[in-house]
Amino acid sequence: MGKGKTYKVGVIPGDGVGPEIISAGMEVLKAAADRFNFQLDTVYYDFGGDRYLKTGETLPDSAIEEFKKLDVIYLGAIGHPDVKPGILEKGILLKIRFELDQYINLRPVKLYPGVWTPLKDKGPEHIDYVVVRENTEGAYCGIGGFFKKGTMDEIATQLDINTRKGVERCVRYAFELARKRNKNKTLTCVDKANVLTFSGDLWRRTCQEVQKEYADIKLDFAFVDATCMWMVKNPEWFDVIVTNNMFGDIITDLAAITQGGLGVAAGGNINPEGVSMFEPIHGSAPKYTGKNVICPIATIAAGAMMLDTLGETLAAETIEKAICKTLSEGYIKSLEAGKMGMGTAEVGALIAGFVSSI
Ligand code: IPM
Ligand code: MN
Repeated sequence: MGKGKTYKVGVIPGDGVGPEIISAGMEVLKAAADRFNFQLDTVYYDFGGDRYLKTGETLPDSAIEEFKKLDVIYLGAIGHPDVKPGILEKGILLKIRFELDQYINLRPVKLYPGVWTPLKDKGPEHIDYVVVRENTEGAYCGIGGFFKKGTMDEIATQLDINTRKGVERCVRYAFELARKRNKNKTLTCVDKANVLTFSGDLWRRTCQEVQKEYADIKLDFAFVDATCMWMVKNPEWFDVIVTNNMFGDIITDLAAITQGGLGVAAGGNINPEGVSMFEPIHGSAPKYTGKNVICPIATIAAGAMMLDTLGETLAAETIEKAICKTLSEGYIKSLEAGKMGMGTAEVGALIAGFVSSI
């Protein structure tokens, strides 16, 4: 057989447990590449806390220019206990999302068969929806500052930016996804339009206008506080959720625990016209670093999303199947760090083996 396509993959293992989970994820991706006849041309980057502590550099602009020539980026985790919060997050993770205009943060919420959920009487048939989080605007834009800092008259501002262009492209993506999923054909716009009346109005108006092109999709609106309750009580109501950057960040941690925990929750930072980046939604978990105890499934699932985006659909589906098999046939005792009954690397090898043979 001739060699299939070659994809240029930038790999950023990052901090803490990042290198371990990325190594497990790469083993699975390589197994998929071998079986489905494509090549992964990887370039590793050491951006993260250690490099910052040594050199003072987070992510130089030249790296962004290099990233633009890649097909995709595979990221482990960013965050270091010796670095003040915000420096690495803003300087690396958010910089990549913003500079590469990865305007969609796609976070599937899916309970795999055989996985424990804290939700009583709910199973995989109830927990299966996707959160489309706007990923380049909102309170994350970094506009704001201090006035009279350190005095009793201090003022701190943090602007929440919502542009018509940014909202519309995100809403459009969400409508498309609801159509493609072909499930409940429902898009729920999650906001706080009863208090944030300006941004809420922009989001709702945009949804209603775009819906004119998606008459087959039902459009719902829900307040973010009530949404948190329904995600616990009636997760089966949701199909596709679209929301702003901050609400999306918060509700997807809640969503992650309903699908069994951060050990399985994957996400994609997507620029449909450019370079996208895939990562587990959990952080660097510094206390588990180097112990081979963290669950790599979120990272492996992120790898599947990455292959799907590259157009390697069959390979992506096979990884998903391999994850399902691993979780439903009792190979792993728990998704919690240290309680899996197997090591990070061993889970990677097991799933890679299934990808080759399933
Ligand atoms: C996430 C994380 C990031 C975010 C942090 C690390 C900046 O919590 O990907 O959800 O807030 O987006
Ligand atoms: Mn988060």
